[in-house]
Amino acid sequence: MCGIIGYCSKNGKASAVIFEDLKRMEYRGYDSSGIAMISAGKLIIRKGIGKLDEVNRRYKLDKIPGQVGIGHTRWATHGGVTKPNTHPHTDCTGQIAVIHNGIIDNYQELRRDLIKRGHHFASETDTEVIPHKIEDELKKGHSLEEAVMTIAPRLEGSYAFLAISTKEPGKIVGTRKGSPLIVGMGNHQAFAASDSLALAGQINQLFMLGEGDVAVLTADKAVFYDSTGREIHIKASKPDAVWSENDKGGYDYFMLKEIMEQPKSLVAAALQDKELFTSVALDILRAGQVIVTACGSSRYSALVGRYLFSSVGKKFCEVVMASEFQYFADSVSKNTLVLAISQSGETLDVIEGVELARKAGAKIVSIINRPQSSLGELSHNVLYLNCGPEIGVAATKSFLNQLAIFYLLSFSMVHSFDMAVDSIRKVSRQVSRTIDWNKDELARITEEYYMKNDFYYIARGINFAIASEGALKLKEISYIHAEGMPAGELKHGTLSLIEKGTPVLVICPGDYTYKETLGNAIEAKSRGAKIIAVSDVDNEIYDHWIRLPKVHELLYPILATLRLQLLAYNMAIKRGHNPDMPRNLAKSVTVK
Ligand code: F6R
Repeated sequence: MCGIIGYCSKNGKASAVIFEDLKRMEYRGYDSSGIAMISAGKLIIRKGIGKLDEVNRRYKLDKIPGQVGIGHTRWATHGGVTKPNTHPHTDCTGQIAVIHNGIIDNYQELRRDLIKRGHHFASETDTEVIPHKIEDELKKGHSLEEAVMTIAPRLEGSYAFLAISTKEPGKIVGTRKGSPLIVGMGNHQAFAASDSLALAGQINQLFMLGEGDVAVLTADKAVFYDSTGREIHIKASKPDAVWSENDKGGYDYFMLKEIMEQPKSLVAAALQDKELFTSVALDILRAGQVIVTACGSSRYSALVGRYLFSSVGKKFCEVVMASEFQYFADSVSKNTLVLAISQSGETLDVIEGVELARKAGAKIVSIINRPQSSLGELSHNVLYLNCGPEIGVAATKSFLNQLAIFYLLSFSMVHSFDMAVDSIRKVSRQVSRTIDWNKDELARITEEYYMKNDFYYIARGINFAIASEGALKLKEISYIHAEGMPAGELKHGTLSLIEKGTPVLVICPGDYTYKETLGNAIEAKSRGAKIIAVSDVDNEIYDHWIRLPKVHELLYPILATLRLQLLAYNMAIKRGHNPDMPRNLAKSVTVK
């Protein structure tokens, strides 16, 4: 959430570079944005509300002169979406600019104290305390890095921030605690950013900052300090080429591109280290208890995983919503294995629960997409999704790859990893072959229901979490209220909401759940519901039939998900919404 970028260069068009890099991080937040540059010894700040392109049209962010600057794209936490609350923020003298990702928990008390001492605030944000506190330190004669190192320990909460000052015009200073910040070096140019994706193709060395580390950047050099002020060496790594791909590949939206590349990304999911999978699978089987923690779509994949572990590996595990996990920390011990699922590896709810579990002695295994993530650092073992960058805010290919990883892991429990790899490869071909199957039917469904206010998604067994995932996809990008639930649960309350014409989407493959699920659909139809079935078997009760190919019962989730993604996408487009940037949301949720 919130993308931050700092750029030190020897070229006078630095703001154009900052703007382009911000565009690549816009998925982290898009309420408002701004850039601050140091130009001829003066600080120039331009900012405004709206998506980056709109702000740029109005304020020409990419035309600010100067060689050193910082940029921010915001997902509002403290303070509404207004121009004064937009980053960068400055101090009373207008000589310091700061951008920040995270939340300063003790900002109210810091702000009260600063106001008492004569500081004037221009925004309602937590961030603005930072430039004012730096101002105090610079007045004492400290350098910018000394100021940052002095004030950082007094900030509670999570942060990654970058600061510039007209007093030291060639320099950017940044630090992090609990929020991501990386440093990249290119040819006479230094970058700091929330995400390596922003720096694709521009750097040849990447540095990961540890908790509390401070980076001091000039165009040719990056110097690092730990939180005590001691200079440290951080090992450089090479940026991964796959993570440089970030164009829409000819599609209108990243979401559609990412849906369409799922056959390819499933093949990549199956490219795994057999030994690692077998050893993790055995750890899961041996553990006294297994807790899976995740949020949103990642949690729905975990619910499918729970089913696979039980039906294939005969191992029961509990799935706990990551934001609630901390309240169960008392039950975690060294006999616990915690499986943390996160596309980004930066979701704060997941990280905080995992930190507590690790302190209690639990073994931590993570399933992550992004390389070099905070969650990865906390884990004893990491399994990677291998699906490359996912830019659309809604999880698509990462979700399918999570399902594939759970599939591989569950079959590794019964020493059938190779067979599972073959099945995933086969299913990727089925996804590819059937990707266009329901084009006309999906278009008809969209046309008929896009003005509806409510949708219900139902399914049983392994597919119930897919119903929830389908509903989440629909609501987050098309803004239609949708609920997903086990089909048998409908009659325990929600059925009272069904009236004439209410769309009920039922996932009912022709497996052992078919008859009972169909029975629940008939109960809804008897109350006037329109039945949209996702199935490989036709039935007269369907008002619409979204066809699935026949596959093994454990693989229907992969094929059903694809269809639900496309339905949600169509609905969003028909209702005139940008599916890549749904309102109020952001990819990578790094706040609580
Ligand atoms: C929904 C979606 C979110 C994420 C959730 C967890 O389409 O993308 O629900 O799944 O925010 O994110 P990660 O997996 O990065 O921890």
